[in-house]
Amino acid sequence: MPVAPHIAAVMSSKMSSVIRKMFEEGGVLKKKYGPDAVFDFSLGNPDLETPPEVEAAISRIAGEKTRGCHGYMPNAGYDEARAQMARKVGREQGVTLEGSHVVMTCGAAAALTCVLKAVLSPGDEVLANAPFFPEYAHYTANHGGALRVVPPALDFSLNIPGIQAALSAKTAAVIINSPNNPSGRVYGKAELEALAGVLTAHRKKTGRWVLLIADEPYRDIVYENRTVQAIFPLYDCSVVVSSFAKNLSIPGERVGYIAANPAMGDAPQFVAACIFANRILGFVNAPAFFQRVAAASWDCAVDYSPYTTRRNAIMAVMRDAGYQFAVPEGAFYLFCRVPASTRDGAAKSAGEGIDLAFCDHLKEHLVLCAPASGFGCQGWFRIAYCVPQSTIENCGASFKKAKETW
Ligand SMILES: Cc1ncc(COP(=O)(O)O)c(C=O)c1O
Repeated sequence: MPVAPHIAAVMSSKMSSVIRKMFEEGGVLKKKYGPDAVFDFSLGNPDLETPPEVEAAISRIAGEKTRGCHGYMPNAGYDEARAQMARKVGREQGVTLEGSHVVMTCGAAAALTCVLKAVLSPGDEVLANAPFFPEYAHYTANHGGALRVVPPALDFSLNIPGIQAALSAKTAAVIINSPNNPSGRVYGKAELEALAGVLTAHRKKTGRWVLLIADEPYRDIVYENRTVQAIFPLYDCSVVVSSFAKNLSIPGERVGYIAANPAMGDAPQFVAACIFANRILGFVNAPAFFQRVAAASWDCAVDYSPYTTRRNAIMAVMRDAGYQFAVPEGAFYLFCRVPASTRDGAAKSAGEGIDLAFCDHLKEHLVLCAPASGFGCQGWFRIAYCVPQSTIENCGASFKKAKETW
C-alpha cells in the first residue's frame, strides 16, 4: 500500500506507539505466563467500575424509543448535552456558559484535535510543558503545526521562564494538563496566574493572542481534597477540553467536549470553527447514545477513594524497592526516575533512550511501564496504577529484582 513516507516514518519510530505496543505485548505475556504473573501498568485505562448512576442512565435511555434517536444531528451535538456541559464547566470555572459555547466531541482527543484544527496555520507552533501527553505532538502535526516542548521544571510545576522563552510570533497555543499525565502534578493558582501574565504580555508585544488550552480529563481525580484551578477567570483567550473517559470510566465510549471561554474575543466564531473541524475531520458528531448518557449522569457522585488506596500502596511498594518518584496530587500515574545502575553506576541512569532500555528491562521481569521520553522527560518512567489492588500488592518483588539486576 502507498503509505505516505512521513506516516511510515512516524509509525516506525519507537516512541510513536510505545505505550500501545507495551499494552499489546502485555496481552501476549499474560497468555503465555498467566494474567496474575504479569504486572501491567502500561495504559491509563481506568479499572474502577462505571458508576451506578451511569449504568442506570444507559439502561433507561436504551429503553426509550425516541424517533430518530440514531440519526444524524447538528455537528455540535445535542442541545441538551451542550447545555449540561455548559452547566458543568460553568460550575468548575466559576463563569456563566451557554450551550452555544460547547461542542460535543469523540473524547478529549477529538476535542484537542478539533481545537488545533480551528486555530493552526501551517508553520504555527504549540507549546507543551514537559512532561506532557505524547499524542499532543501528533495532534499538532496533523494540522501543519509543530509541538515545541518546554523543558520540565525540577518539581514538574509549570516552567514559566521556559514558556516565556519559547513564545514567538509563531505560537498559536499552549496546552496545559492538570492533573498531569504523567507527573500527577496539579498546577497551583500562582503558577497559572504567572502563565496568564506571560501570555497577556506576549499579546501586548506581538499583537497575537495565544490560545490557552486546558486539557482536563483528570479534573475530578485529586488527592487530599485538592481542587483544580479554573483558568477562565485568569485568561480570556482560553478553552477547556475534556471527556468522561477517566472520571466515569467510559474511555471506550468516546464522549467529550470543547468549552470555550465566553470572554474570549469572538467566541462564536471560534466555536463555529471547532464545529466545522468536527465535521471536516470526519468525526461528524460525538456518539448520540453516550451524549444522552453523559447529559443525564455527569453530575453523579463518584467514589475515587480506591485510587487513593492504590496510590498509597504503589508509593509504599516503590519506596520500599528503592525508587524515587513524584508524589501524585491527582490522576492515577506514578512518575518514577530510572534508577542508577547497580552495575555501571550513574552512567546507566542517564542518557538518551535510558528509560526505554529500563522499561525493556522491567518487561523481562514481567512488569510493564511506559518510558517517559515520549512525555518529554528522558530518564523517567510511568506507572499507571489504575489496576487491581492485587497487581500493586504483588509487584514489589519484581520491581526490586529489576532494580538489583539493572
Ligand atoms: C492528558 C490526556 N489528554 C487527553 C486524553 C485523551 O482522552 P480521551 O480518551 O477522552 O480522548 C488522555 C488519555 O489518556 C490524556 O491522558
